[in-house]
Amino acid sequence: MEFRQIGVLGAGNIGSGVVTDLVLHGISVVVVDVSEEILHRAQADVLKNIRLAPLLSKTLPRVTKEEAGTRMVLTTDLKDLASCDFIIENVTENWEIKQQVYENLERVMRPEVCFGANTSCISITQIGSATKRPANVVGMHLMNPVYLKPTVEVIRGFHTSDRTLDILLQLFSRLNKEAIVVEDMPGFVSNRISHLFMNEAAFVLQDQVATAEQVDTIFKKCFGHKMGPLETADLIGLDTVMRSLDVLYESFQDPKYRCCTLLRKFVHAGHLGRKTGKGFYVYPEV
Ligand SMILES: NC(=O)c1ccc[n+]([C@@H]2O[C@H](COP(=O)([O-])OP(=O)(O)OC[C@H]3O[C@@H](n4cnc5c(N)ncnc54)[C@H](O)[C@@H]3O)[C@@H](O)[C@H]2O)c1
Repeated sequence: MEFRQIGVLGAGNIGSGVVTDLVLHGISVVVVDVSEEILHRAQADVLKNIRLAPLLSKTLPRVTKEEAGTRMVLTTDLKDLASCDFIIENVTENWEIKQQVYENLERVMRPEVCFGANTSCISITQIGSATKRPANVVGMHLMNPVYLKPTVEVIRGFHTSDRTLDILLQLFSRLNKEAIVVEDMPGFVSNRISHLFMNEAAFVLQDQVATAEQVDTIFKKCFGHKMGPLETADLIGLDTVMRSLDVLYESFQDPKYRCCTLLRKFVHAGHLGRKTGKGFYVYPEV
């Protein structure tokens, strides 16, 4: 597939990274979110990412601010997606919101267009059930920062067709990403496991066993991880981590996924991690 224009729904934390990656690889994007303010914030994030990309990676294509500008259309109107070849959906990790989005998408998109659901934990089979074309829905779990990550988890839902999977694999090949294709269950591989780490690290902090720095340092220096679990949670966004744990808890009916009270408290206090400047750590630059 040519991928002349891709629709990106949800221009939050991960959505702005997705737009950055597409624009860097010469793909035009129609970006949809619920307000002009969010769209303009996302556009500023994308332009900043594009400026910093050459400093962070030698292999990413170089793109000027002007070129990037011509490759992005920002809109709050879903109908503007009608000309797109493929949709990447990154709206809030909430089943009711995603369900409504897929019902609406079905009305505006041509029948052959496929939907890549970028979700942390919601089952791709469940997302497929929100449309009359579940064969066109495939899961993709991109990691932050999207344009710097060479690998992506791809999830085949119960009804995902070979054609849909193949189109997504073509897209990742264009973005120079290796795709690891797994079967569908809530949380897939990465988040089913990593959210237990992040949640338990929050419990360790809550129980005053160690400071956030100590927890993360043990993971980095003793296990050789690049980032510790609490830094990772801050990067993902504590609201998204909390919602993902709620999805895992609900889906598996297993108490091991109950969300740590301290983590939930931070979310209610508006301390969502890097994106708000405060989470388990403070980020003075935000
Ligand atoms: N943050 C991560 O590292 C990460 C990684 C992989 C996958 N994801 C998944 O990506 C999705 C988004 O996560 P995020 O962290 O970017 O969340 P976020 O809260 O930062 O962004 C979500 C965006 O979706 C928008 N939105 C909500 N309803 C919408 C609608 N009806 N139409 C268009 N836009 C709408 C919100 O306004 C917001 O800008 C979630 O499903 C999450 O699980 C996140």
